[in-house]
Amino acid sequence: MKIGIDRIAFATSNQFVDMAELAHARHEDPNKYLIGIGQKKMAVIPPTQDIVTLAASAAKKVLGPEERDHLGMIMFATESAVDNSKSAAAPLIRLLDLDPHVRVAELKQACYTGTAGLQLAKGQIALHPEQVVLVIAADIARYGLDTPGEPTQGGGAVAMTVRVNPRILALEDDAAVVTKDIMDFWRPFGCDAAFVDGKYSTEVYLDFLADTFAHYQKMNGRTLDDFAALLFHLPFTKLGLKGLRQLIADADPKVGARLAQQFEAAREYGSQVGNLYTGSLYLSLISLLENSTTLRAGDRIGLYSYGSGAEGEFYSGILQPGFAAQFTTKPTGQALASRKQVSVPEYEKLYDAAVHGPAECVLNADDDPADFVFTGVHNHIRQYEHREN
Ligand code: HMG
Repeated sequence: MKIGIDRIAFATSNQFVDMAELAHARHEDPNKYLIGIGQKKMAVIPPTQDIVTLAASAAKKVLGPEERDHLGMIMFATESAVDNSKSAAAPLIRLLDLDPHVRVAELKQACYTGTAGLQLAKGQIALHPEQVVLVIAADIARYGLDTPGEPTQGGGAVAMTVRVNPRILALEDDAAVVTKDIMDFWRPFGCDAAFVDGKYSTEVYLDFLADTFAHYQKMNGRTLDDFAALLFHLPFTKLGLKGLRQLIADADPKVGARLAQQFEAAREYGSQVGNLYTGSLYLSLISLLENSTTLRAGDRIGLYSYGSGAEGEFYSGILQPGFAAQFTTKPTGQALASRKQVSVPEYEKLYDAAVHGPAECVLNADDDPADFVFTGVHNHIRQYEHREN
């Protein structure tokens, strides 16, 4: 039985800051951000958006009548939780007007859990082949203004439906996983920005890639030649490029050149959004499918998922006939191209305005064109609105 990703969509805010402008403001050479980090633009998330509203916007795009009728489970992957108890999936039932006879839960292991959500969805569908599972990967990456991590911020949500006979990517049963107790990146209770040992985190990311890929090869006997493209978790796109270079160092140059060409298609949208933690790998899948011109049904795609703390997984999926139909109009590329640019001072003001923890506040969402907005907190309860625009 084939099980995998049937539909996939992305949502972020309608505004970005230009990385060359941010570099000037931070007295850095723009090429450090553009080439050294590999980022061109960074999504700026206004206070009226959070993981719930971003998730609702992404999920709305993948939930048609058929998906709604068969929805059995929602797995919400995030490390930007808005409540210590309640899952961010629960408000989606009301905001998206879903049948409440559905199992929901929130998953946490840094950036890794978009993949955990997909693997759990696969298990659910194996037991209940009549169902559809919605997997959400939504986050807002925050390190603080004028910190080394700042150029690697970003945010957004990817929504994926998983079912039998998927139209995009059938998930193979071939995952190699590694987990170790490591302090490369963490966010203690009460802190709205992450603590990170930046250089160390990049070393662990690359070490886990070497470990999971070697383990994968041992388990499955595949070589690089078996993959049409390799996708990476992209906290910033240069790190994915380093990962690719590490894997292809001893490869046949023709295979290496092919994978490097696909990587350019796969990193385009990440370079325009920044890190969205759990969703970054899956935004890269969308970027590949919208921007590559050489993929064919039956091609094997390798995916490297990494979450600090730390967990890595390498697995693969097979492109399905008709996969291209959902991407011919490049919906994500168009949405990214229609965003408005904000200046560095405007971005800083929006960054500082993010709401963390007050019992009461009211937010004015008149300038936010999104269908779903966060309008404040009343009696410790977050207020969300669904507006038809
Ligand atoms: P930094 O220390 O300011 O930067 O911060 P740098 O000095 O290392 O420079 C970065 C690169 O730019 C270097 O290239 C420089 O040579 C180059 P590299 O040596 O690495 O190839 N450079 C230039 N290139 C061209 N022209 C120039 C120029 N100047 C310099 N003029 C750091 C970098 C990544 C440490 C920082 O941004 C950071 O801490 N970011 C956050 C942590 C992070 O993203 N880690 C990634 C791995 S962990 C992960 O992926 C998990 C995560 O997503 C969270 C989760 O799982 O939940 C983060």
